[in-house]
Amino acid sequence: MVYQATASAPVNIACIKYWGKRDTKLILPTNSSLSVTLSQDHLRSTTTSRADPSFAKDRLWLNGKEEEIVAPGRLATCIAELKKLRKELVEDKDSSAPKLSTFPVHIASFNNFPTAAGLASSASGFAALVSSLAALYALPCSPSTLSLIARQGSGSACRSLFGGYVAWEQGVLDDGSDSLAVEVAPRSHWPEMHALICVVSDDKKGTSSTSGMQRTVQTSELLQHRIKHVVPKRMKEIEAAIKAKDFDAFAKVTMADSNQFHAVALDTEPPIFYMNDVSRSIIALIVEYNRVAIEKTGKRKAAYTYDAGPNAVIYTLQENVKEIVELIVKYFPQKDGFKDPFQLFAGGSVGEGRVVEGFNEAVAKKFEVGAVKGLIHTNVGDGPRVLGAEEALLGPDGLPKSLA
Ligand code: DP6
Repeated sequence: MVYQATASAPVNIACIKYWGKRDTKLILPTNSSLSVTLSQDHLRSTTTSRADPSFAKDRLWLNGKEEEIVAPGRLATCIAELKKLRKELVEDKDSSAPKLSTFPVHIASFNNFPTAAGLASSASGFAALVSSLAALYALPCSPSTLSLIARQGSGSACRSLFGGYVAWEQGVLDDGSDSLAVEVAPRSHWPEMHALICVVSDDKKGTSSTSGMQRTVQTSELLQHRIKHVVPKRMKEIEAAIKAKDFDAFAKVTMADSNQFHAVALDTEPPIFYMNDVSRSIIALIVEYNRVAIEKTGKRKAAYTYDAGPNAVIYTLQENVKEIVELIVKYFPQKDGFKDPFQLFAGGSVGEGRVVEGFNEAVAKKFEVGAVKGLIHTNVGDGPRVLGAEEALLGPDGLPKSLA
């Protein structure tokens, strides 16, 4: 008998940013946050887990390379928590259930996007790990319950347990049992939401989210203002905007929160800079694009947001993506053609790009090829998927297929 399961999980990009922990071991945040889950058709982590009494110990391979599992590290914590749930919720209740909680596990995980793209993989990675072990252990748990465990792998991972529009409620309890992800709206509520990721080249090694946010907690007074007076209001505003499908309000709050996150990074001692000149020029282009839209219709059409790095994520409704790709390509010429998953450009070529009528071209300078290394067009997506045996990443010997 082979006990094995495979699952995939999505990336999420926050509109209201998580930045700061009140408990670094349990990963309890200093504020609630909210994100959009991106489609797994384009970006995903896939994980296979197998339990076998003949394995010597728990082992994990990420993109074919073995990673150490050392207690009380994040990987070891997640695996131990899931084994505990298997015992309590399945084996203790049904004496005929195989004692999988006592077997070592082999886990192989693969991200379909290159780490070099600078996209955070910890959220989709921990969500896929938790989803595959939950499937292996046949846990009768809701995504919110599983999010409590994914959170202990990486805070933002808890939001990848749902598709659509997802809040991570910070909670108040010391044991973290109320710090979990909840669905604000499913993908089907507002499927027109698209995202364009501008992969910005970055040579220097940045400050990791984990260490950067703790430095901010220790040194930034602005963060305290944000936690107390800004985020609670914005969480309400963005939830209302999503429920009403009000893109203008969604865009306003999303951009304001990205700006404030980077302001608290700058307010950290010593200061942290995640955006670079390219990032700031993309902001200038979106601000001008929105100015033209507001002049014509009174409403914004795009929202930029930046995580702990220089890449831009531009949220917009499907009908505007073509214009925005043309705008970005005009200022950031591309070496490789635009991969066009939604077939916006008949014939496949974007050409030289262009701006919309009334756009002030002087708001940014034109960059060299390579400043924006690539564009990824995707949309709002669904939550983790349990996959069939044909998608398994472990071979018959229980080792990653890529190593065979
Ligand atoms: C800027 O979830 O990567 O992307 O909990 O320490 O693993 P750890 O941090 P992580 O931080 C993400 C920070 C962010 C904002 C967000 O996703 O909400």
